[in-house]
Amino acid sequence: GETVTVSLTVNGEPRQLQVTPNVVLLDALRDDLRLTGTKKGCDHGQCGACTVHVDGKAVNSCLRLAVMCEGRHVTTVEGLARDGQLHPVQRAFLEHDAYQCGYCTPGQMMSAAALLEDERIAADDASVREAMSGNLCRCGAYKNILEAIQDARR
Ligand code: FES
Repeated sequence: GETVTVSLTVNGEPRQLQVTPNVVLLDALRDDLRLTGTKKGCDHGQCGACTVHVDGKAVNSCLRLAVMCEGRHVTTVEGLARDGQLHPVQRAFLEHDAYQCGYCTPGQMMSAAALLEDERIAADDASVREAMSGNLCRCGAYKNILEAIQDARR
């Protein structure tokens, strides 16, 4: 079908997408920009594997049309580390072995990084678990993920 040009910022760089109007951000990032760190799990907004930041907010990129991202700032897991320094969440996930197969990890880290910036989320474990409930882990690494996030938060 007919393609549309979408201008946006991805990981701090101005980028352009040529997409048909039905293409979701997830597929545009992976297929057009070759940013394959963002994973496709369910493709239906249920698993969180595809989580990226749009204007600093964690969103499921499988539910977001690429054409809706004109002028937006998108950050993917590839942009989480800055100036050669791992993000505190990345460091904590490493330290706490907060993954097994690793497939859900980019999405987990993007949600966790957004959580760290959100002062409305209380410090207790239950609040963090609730805030992370959109990110599923088939391996059940939830305990270590929670520990990593709590560590990164301190
Ligand atoms: Fe988007 Fe599962 S792939 S929520």
